Amino acid sequence: MKIKGSVALVTGANRGLGAAFARALLAGGAAKVYAAARNPASITQPGVVPVPLDVTKPDQVAALARDLKDVTLLVNNAGIFEAGPLLAPNAEQALLRQIETNAVGPLRLVQALAPVLAANGGGAVVNMLSVLSWLTIANVSGTYSASKAAAWALSNALRQELKGQGTALLSVHAGFIDTDMASGVQMPKTSPDEVARRAFQALEAGESEVLVDDITRNVRAGFGATPAVYLGAGA
Ligand SMILES: NC(=O)c1ccc[n+]([C@@H]2O[C@H](COP(=O)([O-])OP(=O)(O)OC[C@H]3O[C@@H](n4cnc5c(N)ncnc54)[C@H](OP(=O)(O)O)[C@@H]3O)[C@@H](O)[C@H]2O)c1
Repeated sequence: MKIKGSVALVTGANRGLGAAFARALLAGGAAKVYAAARNPASITQPGVVPVPLDVTKPDQVAALARDLKDVTLLVNNAGIFEAGPLLAPNAEQALLRQIETNAVGPLRLVQALAPVLAANGGGAVVNMLSVLSWLTIANVSGTYSASKAAAWALSNALRQELKGQGTALLSVHAGFIDTDMASGVQMPKTSPDEVARRAFQALEAGESEVLVDDITRNVRAGFGATPAVYLGAGA
């Protein structure tokens, strides 16, 4: 998959990493970038085509798939993070909201756009995952991690299903990224432009997943440790 000449649809493209994905696509020579946002008026990037999309609204997803017949690259970026312990009374509702946005949303987009991608020669899907697909920050990320773990499993299954129609799927795992989502975090953060650069470099190289930063690579390596890293401190 080459960025140059591609026609991309980026979800959550009005700010943070989504805006960086859109910038990188334009800089890389994409023929067209559809910048999707719940409020298209919040898209300020020159050169993109703003489109309305709330990924939790199936009718909006279907409308985009009907209208945007030239898409060759789908970037599933939109996501939400709700912090809190799993034992809190609101955890179930928080989990359902995050599953809906972070896991079902990307699946919905892939289902709707798969025929468009196939008709345009296969193309590719980029799914924005996290180091927290594999790890939980106790009392903080239980529900988010569950949603990103679901998105990871869906990505792995979809990659195999999409292969039949010649569509590649790249999973992008990252630690903290310097956006609104991580504004309260006092830890090293990767710039969103660097995450976008690494993601599209991996996509062009034909990779199936990319681990963007050291924390992500260390956690992945810790799967084989004793105790395994995902068992948490004191396991
Ligand atoms: N920041 C991190 O440390 C980090 C680390 C690893 C992975 N990620 C992942 O990276 C992706 C981008 O996050 P970010 O850091 O750029 O976060 P962000 O700054 O909070 O931006 C989130 C984006 O998602 C959009 N969004 C949320 N719910 C949506 C919905 N229902 N429909 C459509 N758009 C929706 C937001 O739109 P509105 O402006 O309308 O709210 C916004 O554009 C997410 O999938 C996130 O989980 C982030």
